[in-house]
Amino acid sequence: MSEPKKLFIKTYGCQMNVYDSERMAEALGAEGYVTTEVAEEADMVLLNTCHIREKAAEKVYSDLGRLRPLKQAKPDLKIGIAGCVAQAEGEEILKRMPLVDLVVGPQSYHRLPAMAKAAEAGQKTVDTDFPEEDKFDHLPDRPKASVRPTAFLTVQEGCDKFCAFCVVPYTRGAEVSRPVERILTEARGLVEKGVRELTLLGQNVNAYHGQGADGDWTLARLVRELARVDGLERIRYTTSHPNDMGDDLIAAHGEEPKLMPYLHLPVQSGSDRILKAMARKHTAEQYLRLIEKIRAARPDMMMSGDFIVGFPGETDADFDATMDLIRAVNYGMAYSFKYSARPGTPAAEKAPVPADVADARLQTLQALITQQQRAAQEGMVGREVSVLFEKPGRLKGQMVGKSDYLHAVHVETGLPVGAIARVRIVSSAPNSLAGEIVAA
Ligand code: 5AD
Ligand code: SF4
Repeated sequence: MSEPKKLFIKTYGCQMNVYDSERMAEALGAEGYVTTEVAEEADMVLLNTCHIREKAAEKVYSDLGRLRPLKQAKPDLKIGIAGCVAQAEGEEILKRMPLVDLVVGPQSYHRLPAMAKAAEAGQKTVDTDFPEEDKFDHLPDRPKASVRPTAFLTVQEGCDKFCAFCVVPYTRGAEVSRPVERILTEARGLVEKGVRELTLLGQNVNAYHGQGADGDWTLARLVRELARVDGLERIRYTTSHPNDMGDDLIAAHGEEPKLMPYLHLPVQSGSDRILKAMARKHTAEQYLRLIEKIRAARPDMMMSGDFIVGFPGETDADFDATMDLIRAVNYGMAYSFKYSARPGTPAAEKAPVPADVADARLQTLQALITQQQRAAQEGMVGREVSVLFEKPGRLKGQMVGKSDYLHAVHVETGLPVGAIARVRIVSSAPNSLAGEIVAA
């Protein structure tokens, strides 16, 4: 038998890319590729790219530059570009980077095996279709072996919101929800392999409206059905839009113990003027009322968000409104970005805020967020949480896992990976908590 071909995948960007990379590896696995962690020994290198901000997109080209000597030393090496840069730039990539052999968008990667064969035969291919057929129907079943107790599961893709700054509606396309039964089957398969926590993924996951036997289901209904799967202990979902946060989903947070008390609900800005310019279609006040409602259903909900500073036209007063909103919400976690003008988006036509102003605002905002994150983490000391152990810690006899609130927790225990235990938090370090077992 010949040596198996080796595949190296580098993943940029969001959790959906992490999920997609796994599925691409599985698709090529069916063609005899095994994954490697070492780019130098690969027969194929796939870069699964992100286009959300300019920096992320440019990183792909600098990484490609670094692959050039590798390809020169090993002319048979095949290089593929997948993900959202592939979707956005297509053919252009081949023109700019002749060392690339294939370009495949996020909706057509089920065709990757055929494209890999073409590449092996010396043919370059580009596929950035939004095909009629559903890629999930053409991907191999998920393999049996897995060691991780947590997994991602894509339930929805694409976005119809068209926020003025965002490329996602163009790179990932229109909103599509996977049918209920497919999701349940994939979930049960993952649980059989030892997965105990599922994070349901979608660019607009709470707009989920997949087909069930009796019509369209909401995300809340899907969550409640998944909660009935024996062995599945924790459910999370990301990313949500405030306008799709239905009452049934909020109610589920109060009633379904398997649904974890952590919610990523980006708002981007606290200024109504900027929210309007961003085409977010809600006000700051509406967002704050929504969070009140969520916390009424689940008082211990840990809130997470995304912010953009320096959106075109943002004044000091607009920025102050964002700071006020952050103070009002009190986030457990938040991600913040300097506005990046993206080709093809409406906001890219507008005059940008000076870079030094945006930089200063980003620093101010991040200082506040850091303060809130620290306070939220330190507030855990003395509390009892549940921890799902994900891997051994650095110290002997130690395990690391995540609490319900997604904090990393170190515990001295003989319990295995995949176990869930009640843990009392005893101390807080900058990036993690330490705790002791209360009861298994
Ligand atoms: N510039 C800066 N940040 C952006 N995001 C999306 N598009 C841009 C952009 N053009 C941020 C938003 C979004 C997160 C995934 O990335 O905050 O919620
Ligand atoms: Fe982008 Fe999210 Fe707005 Fe959709 S809702 S356009 S993914 S920021």
